[in-house]
Amino acid sequence: MKTDTIAFTVKEQLELYKVEKNFEKVVCTPFLKWPGGKRQLLRELLKHLPKGYNRFFEPFVGGGALFFRVKPEYGYISDINPDLINLYEVVQNNVEGLIISLEQHKNTEKYFYELRNADRREDYKYWSKVEKASRLLYLNKTCFNGLYRMNSDGHFNVPFGFYKNPNIIDEQNLMACSTLLKKTEISLASFEAVKKKARKGDLVYFDPPYVPLNKTSSFTKYYKDDFDLDAQFALRELCDSLSSKGVLFMLSNSYTETVKDLYKNYNVKIVKANRAINCKGDGRGKINELIITNY
Ligand SMILES: C[S@@+](CC[C@H](N)C(=O)[O-])C[C@H]1O[C@@H](n2cnc3c(N)ncnc32)[C@H](O)[C@@H]1O
Repeated sequence: MKTDTIAFTVKEQLELYKVEKNFEKVVCTPFLKWPGGKRQLLRELLKHLPKGYNRFFEPFVGGGALFFRVKPEYGYISDINPDLINLYEVVQNNVEGLIISLEQHKNTEKYFYELRNADRREDYKYWSKVEKASRLLYLNKTCFNGLYRMNSDGHFNVPFGFYKNPNIIDEQNLMACSTLLKKTEISLASFEAVKKKARKGDLVYFDPPYVPLNKTSSFTKYYKDDFDLDAQFALRELCDSLSSKGVLFMLSNSYTETVKDLYKNYNVKIVKANRAINCKGDGRGKINELIITNY
């Protein structure tokens, strides 16, 4: 087999070395702002992690706040949102292509709406994985409040955010995330898929769409279907099944009678979270939430 060799000067080698070392030092953080994202609850979640576990599973990954903090040696992430999972796969396998594509975007209202409305056009289904990933990341950085919302036809419908300098290309962070994602299994799947995957000693962190506190604060529709009460029951049953196999789980959900009742056989801790979930972004403040564990 013929191997191509590239000759670098000593100076170039030094530069490459510095770049590599620098990338090692970069702490990877979530590259998306996601509704229900757990940055505000991270400290509490970290406190409630078990002392030891084997593999780390996050089946409602969203923006992956805990995943990127834990940086597991073996990780499994999944979600039912195909655009989101496509983006994770592209960061995993073709981060350079993604960065080149991101460089082409413009932060203008006209350009934003052209790109936003692309999923309403016939040709969108022929876009490459990189083009779709680049579009999602661009929209997330430039749309109002980093929201992710679909209309009833499944089209992204958040308005332009009018930010002066949105950080559309955080190259070093994307590269660091790519390194982590290369050791991670990524799956477009509903949460039930972890039942077959997780084994004794593994940890599963569940962050489902929350049981609504009341009708006005309700935000359970992340992707097409609502995460209704039946889904919440199915999730509790999955927790029972994992527990009987010796799988560890941690779960976050709203501080409601429904959740307290569903998980009454487990350890239920009340924690404070700083939340902004409604579409105007003004529903902020410290509210109680629940962290549930089986250890
Ligand atoms: C509360 S968010 C997760 C936020 C995430 N922990 C973070 O830090 O950004 C819930 C996620 O569950 C996903 N989801 C909704 N229904 C699902 C299902 N049946 N199976 C898997 N994921 C689902 C949504 O697409 C959304 O990304």
